[in-house]
Amino acid sequence: PLRLGVMASGSGSNFEAIAQAIADGQLHAKIPVLICNNRNAKALERAERWGIPSVLLDHRTFASREDLDRQIAETLKQHGVEWVIMAGWMRRVTQVLIDAFPDQMLNIHPSLLPSFPGIRAVEQALQSGVKISGCTVHYVHLEVDSGPIVMQAAVPILAEDTPATLQARIQVQEHRIFPPAIALAAAQKAGVDPTTFFSPLANHKVS
Ligand code: GAR
Repeated sequence: PLRLGVMASGSGSNFEAIAQAIADGQLHAKIPVLICNNRNAKALERAERWGIPSVLLDHRTFASREDLDRQIAETLKQHGVEWVIMAGWMRRVTQVLIDAFPDQMLNIHPSLLPSFPGIRAVEQALQSGVKISGCTVHYVHLEVDSGPIVMQAAVPILAEDTPATLQARIQVQEHRIFPPAIALAAAQKAGVDPTTFFSPLANHKVS
């Protein structure tokens, strides 16, 4: 199984969707560690409930972004992590972390990149007047929310939407695409069929 190190700062619903896909026997992976930078994050409670070890690395206790990233990389390596999954990680990452996991870091972002990178992506989309938004799983490069796209899903924006209702609609799609996107990226890297890591994809074979 793939060894996924998940990084989360907040609610952790994407972390839980990945854990659920593993528990359901769909995603062939393990989560040896969750890293969290915020002691009040609900993600920590979810990890406890799932029996997944978590490590709290409070960014405020590090002198620089690089120092934090060095500690994150070391913790991930100690747990034998192969793929780093940023699931609502709200800190900018540095080259220190990227170099420790070259081409093995994925992020999820709540817009159809390259539209609306950065913070408050859901509000940005709403304010811009576009009628479709969605979510993107992409490789992590130094520039925020850049990096090759692995998978996207679209949702409509409705006239009555608020940031909360649009975010909820986007999150349904995030939870749906993150597990297969991880499998797809890992399969491409290993040069194997994606069904190796995500069994439901077996139903989507083209003849
Ligand atoms: C997700 O919607 C994710 O796309 C977004 O944070 C949310 C975390 O939710 N990420 C970013 O905005 C990154 N810039 P979760 O903690 O419930 O998974």
